[in-house]
Amino acid sequence: MSHPPRLRVLSGMRPTGRLHLGNLLGALDNWVRLQEEHDCFFFVADWHALTTEYPPRGELQANTREMVADWLGAGLDPERSTLFVQSLVPEHAELHLLFSMVTPVAWLERVPTYKEMVEQLKLESPSYGLLGYPLLQAADILIYKAQAVPVGVDQVPHIELTREIARRFNHLFGPVFPEPEPRLTEIPKVPGTDGRKMSKSYDNCIYLADPPEVITPRIKTMMTDPARKRRQDPGNPEVCPVFDLHKIFTPEDDRAYCATGCRTAGIGCLDCKGVLLEHLLPPLEKIRERRSTFAQRPGEIDEILREGSRKARQVARATLDEAKAAVGIG
Ligand code: TRP
Ligand code: SF4
Repeated sequence: MSHPPRLRVLSGMRPTGRLHLGNLLGALDNWVRLQEEHDCFFFVADWHALTTEYPPRGELQANTREMVADWLGAGLDPERSTLFVQSLVPEHAELHLLFSMVTPVAWLERVPTYKEMVEQLKLESPSYGLLGYPLLQAADILIYKAQAVPVGVDQVPHIELTREIARRFNHLFGPVFPEPEPRLTEIPKVPGTDGRKMSKSYDNCIYLADPPEVITPRIKTMMTDPARKRRQDPGNPEVCPVFDLHKIFTPEDDRAYCATGCRTAGIGCLDCKGVLLEHLLPPLEKIRERRSTFAQRPGEIDEILREGSRKARQVARATLDEAKAAVGIG
């Protein structure tokens, strides 16, 4: 009996260092689920990390190791998924160059993330690389002929552009590239300790590398329903960021106990946070233990990425050869 070919899935992250709870619930958990059934490629987008700044030498490598330790801690398995580094597969860069020949500049100028970056970072003269960011992303995806790309909703314009590039290339040179679909990740609301969205730049994160003695005081001082100033004031769980975390981690019965206790002032916020910690700490502790065994052996992480990059390269090479033959170069 022959099996139908498995769906090819690909996604990547820029190497920003340690990952937090928002990254876990917004992306990583989903990657781990996808690897059960699909042919998954996950990579460190290190070229993309150079589009807006130039980290001090050594930082990209350190950030890569920290991030991939978190990937492995959360359960990505190099036996099932191909884990690799973008710059170790130079075919991405070559396909990016080839795509740049068929892409109107206007298509790139109208990508919303480009304008946002330029405004947000107040870039006076944005680089050619930043303009080409989504084109490099298109090369990342199409070089593996990926069918599904798990991303957050902010990345959808990039997948849309990828589809346009595939169509245009195929129209000009013959059918080489399938059009990928975005796989939108259902992202729960993950508040940081100050109640805003959890984000590195707000300094409000719970990191996967944090031990319980760091997490516990951060939760205990976490912002709550601002209307609940004193123990005897009733609160509203629906406006409380602590309760957003209960919705993710706490089973139904304990969560109902906290909600009722909050509304009736039957329990205090510290009691409520104690219940949260009971459910939050154990799963995080499992991830942290596993990630730290890898973080202590960076050579092992490097070896996983080298081997993954070697495997990825075979696939990438074949597609690039096909694309160049279609164009008639080389
Ligand atoms: N742009 C993505 C992000 O910032 C990272 C990325 C680069 C990516 N290349 C990709 C994601 C290819 C999916 C597929 O999150
Ligand atoms: Fe938030 Fe819990 Fe305090 Fe209510 S009791 S305000 S849900 S921390």
